[in-house]
Amino acid sequence: MQFGHFDDEAKEYVVDRPDTPRPWSNYLGSTEYGAIITNHAGGFSFYRSAALHRILRLRGNAVPLDQPGRYFYLRDRDSADYWSSSWQPVGKPLDEYSSKCRHGTGYTIITSDYGGIATESTYFVPLGQTFEYWRLRVTNKGPAPRRLSVFTYCEFANVGHLLNDLTNLQYSLFVSKAESRQGMIAYASHPHESFDPKDLRSSCRYWMKICGAKVVGFETQRERFIGNYGSYAAPEAVVRGSLTNFETAGENMCGTQQVDLELAPGESREIIVLLGLGTPESHGVATAEEFGSSERCASELEKVKRSWHAKLGAVWVKTPDPEFDSMVNVWNAYNSLITYAWSRAASLIYNGERDGLGYRDTVQDFLGVTPLLKSDMRGRLELMLTGQVASGGAMPLVRPFDHRPGNEPPPKAEDFRSDDCLWLFHAVPAYVAETGELEFYDKVLPYADEGSATVLGHLRRALEFNLERTGRNGLPCGLSADWNDCCKLGYTGESVMVAFQVCYGLAVYRDVAERLGRKDEVAWAVAERAKLEQAIQRTCWDGDWFIWATGKDGTRFGTKQMEEGKVYLNTQVWAVISGVATEAQGKRALESMHEWLATPYGLMLCAPPFEKTPRHVMDGVVYNKGIKENGGIFNHPQAWAVMAECALGNGDRAFEYYRAYMPSAYNTRAELREIEPYVHSQTTYASCSPHAGKSRVPWLTGTASWSLFVAVQNILGIVPEEDALRIDPCIPRHWPRFEVQRSFRGHSITIRVENPASVCKGVRQLRLDGKVVAGNRVPVSALRDGLLVEITLG
Ligand code: GLC
Repeated sequence: MQFGHFDDEAKEYVVDRPDTPRPWSNYLGSTEYGAIITNHAGGFSFYRSAALHRILRLRGNAVPLDQPGRYFYLRDRDSADYWSSSWQPVGKPLDEYSSKCRHGTGYTIITSDYGGIATESTYFVPLGQTFEYWRLRVTNKGPAPRRLSVFTYCEFANVGHLLNDLTNLQYSLFVSKAESRQGMIAYASHPHESFDPKDLRSSCRYWMKICGAKVVGFETQRERFIGNYGSYAAPEAVVRGSLTNFETAGENMCGTQQVDLELAPGESREIIVLLGLGTPESHGVATAEEFGSSERCASELEKVKRSWHAKLGAVWVKTPDPEFDSMVNVWNAYNSLITYAWSRAASLIYNGERDGLGYRDTVQDFLGVTPLLKSDMRGRLELMLTGQVASGGAMPLVRPFDHRPGNEPPPKAEDFRSDDCLWLFHAVPAYVAETGELEFYDKVLPYADEGSATVLGHLRRALEFNLERTGRNGLPCGLSADWNDCCKLGYTGESVMVAFQVCYGLAVYRDVAERLGRKDEVAWAVAERAKLEQAIQRTCWDGDWFIWATGKDGTRFGTKQMEEGKVYLNTQVWAVISGVATEAQGKRALESMHEWLATPYGLMLCAPPFEKTPRHVMDGVVYNKGIKENGGIFNHPQAWAVMAECALGNGDRAFEYYRAYMPSAYNTRAELREIEPYVHSQTTYASCSPHAGKSRVPWLTGTASWSLFVAVQNILGIVPEEDALRIDPCIPRHWPRFEVQRSFRGHSITIRVENPASVCKGVRQLRLDGKVVAGNRVPVSALRDGLLVEITLG
């Protein structure tokens, strides 16, 4: 079934019918004032942290998943009939009520049509501001005049703290206060504590104002609006049609104001709700004065669009597969930017409990956004480098607003993960290749706990961290986890994936050192890699695939003799990506991966799933078979499989894997995947599960970053280097051509690739503005605006 379509020109996904299998969500705002909204106007808002500075409440894991939200209830004062400007929460029958939702970049527009009244509600956070707009346009499409009341509704989180708000009710319900002041409603938790308008973190002060119509009533306590036995679908106050103007002191606060509209046939009216941080006196009055007009609201919305579209414009592709293009041009890019901004801290699923920047996730999140953000990501990259400790390991979590490099206590030995800093060997070179800032490697940055080093020094410490912590076979220890959070190998068991990652890191380090002219460093990296490769070859090849670990007692996990967890995705693909596998091993390992792990929805993380393996080795056994780390289709590593297949030149299989988990490929059968067909997700149930094909944990996932990265770099083969743009596609052989517009080093260039011989890989000819040039690299010196790069494969 299809519930919506991609509108790439507008950079929107249009939900054409509202009864989506789950609420489909979008993001508003920035890392200062952030918000989630669904196609039913459900969702929440927060200042910097969804856990610690929650503004609007969401009741986690409820049915449906997205209530409450930012609602407009409409009521006909003559017939007493009522509905909402989004299908939910009232939920009128869909043969009488229709609704569409346009999720765009930083804004969402929901329209409804019911009983001759059309509405359009638009939600966004203006750039650089700490308030949100809800704009409602109501049109009378019928032949008779209509008398309508409109009621707003949202719930404020008490004490601004997710857990206290939802659980510590003997406290949180008694410190709230709301009053009508300055023509708006003022809300506070801890109203008696002093308020510093410059520190919006601790304030718990909010204001809400309606512009464009006279407010005829308000309600500030939830139960007075909903009723003690009412519901969001039928709030008592809406059924009744009036409010009580009650100023609450204590209890749950709601944001309800009523305006009455009289609409002649064909007439439209617009009201604007402003809801923001601070008090009416500190922020509200001035903000409403400046931003409270329809014209200003419209121009602020344009600014939001322009700002996002400028970022997305950095890479634009046209291939024979429009579903692929929708992802690369709009949704995968936007998804990557959102994930980069919010890490794993705010969604309908990550409802705020995970706070801060998880080390490994954040460092991987750079990859997708590098071409879009360019040097704008330098600050975050430096922040993460300063989250590395002097031993070479990393703090598991970096808190961007509170991080104190040089003063952070180092993690306990048992808390180190083995892979955290190894992701720097992707993020840092990607940054340098995009910007050309080779000197970045010489920048001195502090460690989190003590001391400092150049960026190159940080990278060396990262490698030494793993080389100094090896087990009985000379392979790096798994420590508290490798990429797989469930892999529990400690200081004696060894992780084969990390062994490959260290080899990869050593190769990158060697290349960088070479370019910097550091001969000793080159020699060191070459020698270390040779040693580690030998250790891997001695221990890890099992004839048809690579094993994935050795246990504390020396057990080899992932051998043919094992009954479960025999074939593990990550070690097959990293054997190839790292270049450690011989050609024959690589081919065989990827064939085994296909035989054992491929499903129509993507590759399982391992097979057969775990049932008896002890938790102290593989904690994934706690999950049901066929989901997450227990043989689920973990979407994050799918992109690595694409990389590995491309490395061997198998463009057909790489693309088959890519489409198997590509969200837009499920748009016409969205009931299968259930979640948003425009964003990536963490995991999908594998065929052995009764939920086969359903995807879970949308939006915030390393899948977004890696998928965009491999689409552009490995499939389309547009690879930035410090001094060139290398073009090395690996496409399905049936693609006759494709085109890419790319901004690189300040120039916008066009790359046209022709594939007359129907091959997957191999550049036969490169022409720059019509002139044949040897090789497949566009040197930086040749770049200019409008440069035409023509490639013929074959
Ligand atoms: C989750 C975590 C990520 C981890 C992965 C595999 O996605 O956020 O850090 O690598 O699970 O366990």
